[in-house]
Amino acid sequence: MSVTLAHLSDLHLPFGLSPGLRDLAGKRLLSFFSWTLRRRHVLVWRSLSAVMKDIYAAHPDVLAIAGDMTNLGLPDELRRARTWLAELGLPRMVIPGNHDAMVPMDWKTGPGQWAPEGGMITPHDPLVCHLKDDVTLIGLNSAVPTPPFCAWGRIGASQASALEAMLKQLGEEGRCRVVMIHHPPHPDLVVNRKALRDWRLCAEVLQSGGAELVLHGHSHRGTISWVPGTTIPLIGVTAASHRPGRVKTAAGWNRITISRDTGTTGPEWQIGIHPRRLGTDGHLHDLEPFVFRRPASGPGIPCAESGKEISPDIARDPAGESAGDLPAGEHGRDETGRKAAKKTSGSRKMAEPATRKARRPSQTGRSRTGGERKTTSE
Ligand SMILES: [Fe+2]
Ligand SMILES: [Fe+2]
Repeated sequence: MSVTLAHLSDLHLPFGLSPGLRDLAGKRLLSFFSWTLRRRHVLVWRSLSAVMKDIYAAHPDVLAIAGDMTNLGLPDELRRARTWLAELGLPRMVIPGNHDAMVPMDWKTGPGQWAPEGGMITPHDPLVCHLKDDVTLIGLNSAVPTPPFCAWGRIGASQASALEAMLKQLGEEGRCRVVMIHHPPHPDLVVNRKALRDWRLCAEVLQSGGAELVLHGHSHRGTISWVPGTTIPLIGVTAASHRPGRVKTAAGWNRITISRDTGTTGPEWQIGIHPRRLGTDGHLHDLEPFVFRRPASGPGIPCAESGKEISPDIARDPAGESAGDLPAGEHGRDETGRKAAKKTSGSRKMAEPATRKARRPSQTGRSRTGGERKTTSE
C-alpha cells in the first residue's frame, strides 16, 4: 500500500495576455515586459500538456501544485486558472506563488477564489488534506506582494504558529506530514531578493513541530536539499510548462511515493522521489530516484536529528553550498548514504536533446547559488 503524489509547480499557465493599462500599474508593467520578451517563449502549453499527460498516466492520488499558476496574477488569469483547476478531474491541492499575488488584492478575488478547487481558504491558515494510509498534505501561503525586481516570500508568525501546532498534533496521530510551500525555507536555493524572508522561523517550526518531507516551487529547478538544521528532505521541481532542451530547466514533475515499512529499528516511512523530465522528443523521462526513510513510530518520535545531514556529499560542499540538482548515478543515495534502489524496469535517464548533449548534473551536486541565474525562476 502506498500513496502517490504528483508534485508540480510554476505552471505559469501560458494564457495569452492582453492586460489593460490599469492592470499594468506598478510591478505588473515590468513583469508584462518580461513575459512579452522572454517568458511566453519558454513557458508553453506544449510542455505543460506533455507533463499533465504523463501525470494522468501515473494515476496519482493527489496533485500537489506548489504555486505560480499565473504570470501576472491578473484577475482574468486567476479566473482562468480556477477553470483550469476545475477541469483537472484529479484530487488536488494548490497554493499561491508570488506571481499569483503580484500586487495587493482582495483574497477572495485573488488566489482565494481557488479554494473550491483545492486552494487555500484563507491566506494565513495552513491548508490540510488527509490522504489514505495516514499521509497528510499541508499547504502554506508564502506569497506576498513585493517591489519591482523582488519576489521574496513570507509565512508570518500567525501561520507559523498554526503550522507548529498542526504538525505536533498530526505527529501524535502518527501521520506522515508532507508540507508544501512555494518559497523554499532555505537561504541558498534562490537569490536573496527572491528568498523566503522568514526561512529561519519556518525551519524552526518544521523542526519543532516535525515533518517528514517538504515540497517547494519557485526556483524552477529540480533540487534536493534539507531544511536547514534538520534531516527533513526539501524537494524542488522545474517549471511544469518550461520548454525542453536543458535537463536543468526542462518541464518536469516529481512522482512521490510514500508507504509505511517495517524498518530495522522500528516502523518507518519510505519516501520515494521519482523525478520526471521532458525531453525534446516530447516525452517525459525518468531521472534517478531517491529513497528516504523516516521514523514512523507514532507519538513522540522526533522526525529529525538536528544538524545531521542525510548525505553530506550532496548536502554540503566545501563552498558551503547545500543544494544539489536532482541527479543521477552516484547521487542516488538514501539517508544512510546507501545507494538508492536501482531504477525500476523501463526507467532510464533523461533523453539527450537532439541538438545538444544533456548536461550531467554537477558531480558534487552543488547548485550555482553564487550568482544570478539566467532562467525563468520565480
Ligand atoms: Fe515564484
Ligand atoms: Fe515561478
